[in-house]
Amino acid sequence: MAETTRTRSWSLSRVGFWVVALTALAYFPLAFTYFWHFFVPGAPILQDELQGAVVGHDFAFGHGSVVQLRAEDYAAHRVVMLVHTTTGAAALALATIQFSARLRATRPALHRWVGRVYLALMTTSMLAAYSFLLLSDPIDYFGGTAFDLQLWGLATTTTGSAAMAFLAIRRRDLTGHRAWSMLNISLMLTAPLLRVLWVALGRIDDDLELMMSLDVGSSALGVIAPGAAALAFMLTQRAGRTSPVSTTAARQYAAAVLVSAAGALWLADLFGRMPDRAPGSMLVLGHLLPAWVLLATCLVGAARAGRSGRGIREAQWRHFAWGVAWATPATAASVVLASSVYGVVDGFLAGQMLGAAGPVLLVFALVVRSASATGPRPMPEAALSSRFGVKDGTTGQ
Ligand code: HEM
Repeated sequence: MAETTRTRSWSLSRVGFWVVALTALAYFPLAFTYFWHFFVPGAPILQDELQGAVVGHDFAFGHGSVVQLRAEDYAAHRVVMLVHTTTGAAALALATIQFSARLRATRPALHRWVGRVYLALMTTSMLAAYSFLLLSDPIDYFGGTAFDLQLWGLATTTTGSAAMAFLAIRRRDLTGHRAWSMLNISLMLTAPLLRVLWVALGRIDDDLELMMSLDVGSSALGVIAPGAAALAFMLTQRAGRTSPVSTTAARQYAAAVLVSAAGALWLADLFGRMPDRAPGSMLVLGHLLPAWVLLATCLVGAARAGRSGRGIREAQWRHFAWGVAWATPATAASVVLASSVYGVVDGFLAGQMLGAAGPVLLVFALVVRSASATGPRPMPEAALSSRFGVKDGTTGQ
């Protein structure tokens, strides 16, 4: 059994490594060069040209495209955005090294130094993102204000999760360090994944302008990013010892499904107030489908852990299932609150883009805290100091 667990977590961390590496490295040249044309006349804008080739010229450059909606703001703040995209792309590419279990084990000093450089690049990128958000108005088009609010939230959770990962390793808490780092990378990966999603949606539905595809993709990532971090944390953890399974577990699974279903009906009712040109994919792909897939995955994980008598693991999966189940009513409640401030369209989209993350992140923090407290004991001083340069609770050089 121990052998099976080791083999599974080894292969899952391998899969995770390749997913992160390929996404980050493939996006690197597109993001890194995005603002060059403002400084070097004639420099290609690879990302927009690729979008034009894959979906169509109008989608990439026409009405409702980022190019058309943001031309003036990007030109006015080209230095800030150059810093944001250059350091963001470099940070994400560097992060791939951190996910190699072999390098972590064989070259601990490299892991430490890459971690420091990553932190510096990521923080610079986020400071530039905050600057752009402060210096420019939200996009004045379908969902522009909602997207702006989501970017504020994204910059804050990205910086916050990195701070949590850093504080965890200073406390010698490897479980917490691993978990918060996974959340941080998951949030950073929303940059390339959003572009993949909006291109895919543009291909599927000819009538969708880029801005509406962006709204759908951003809403979906509001569920997918924290959910993926939760799944990555669970799937790369050891299965743990056997322990009693809650006698109410099965009833809680059913209750979680009911909470999610009630939230879905409420959200669908709120979507009914959107103008006709809002596509149904905004509700289904933007929230319901990712939330249901995530909920089903957590319930399957809980049921399997329960069947093998691993009560602690079952409870962790079940708590994540509750977080995901509450994400849908929380989204609907956020829509109601946001609509009173931002109107029907931006209120609905702001609720979808921001509302789901709250319950999932709350459960994430609670599960990680309890796993850190009950998980493997802190590494011995000597091992920690050679692996991560931590001495007396501080990170040494
Ligand atoms: C995860 C945290 C991130 C935040 C909060 C963030 C924030 C922002 C903001 C505020 C903008 C301007 C959006 C607008 O027009 O209103 C932007 C655009 C952009 N960002 Fe980020 N960003 C993040 C991560 C990244 C990363 C990691 C990369 C590179 C790998 C990146 C690449 C870009 C690019 C290329 C643009 C230009 C717009 C476009 O693609 O069409 N961002 N970002």
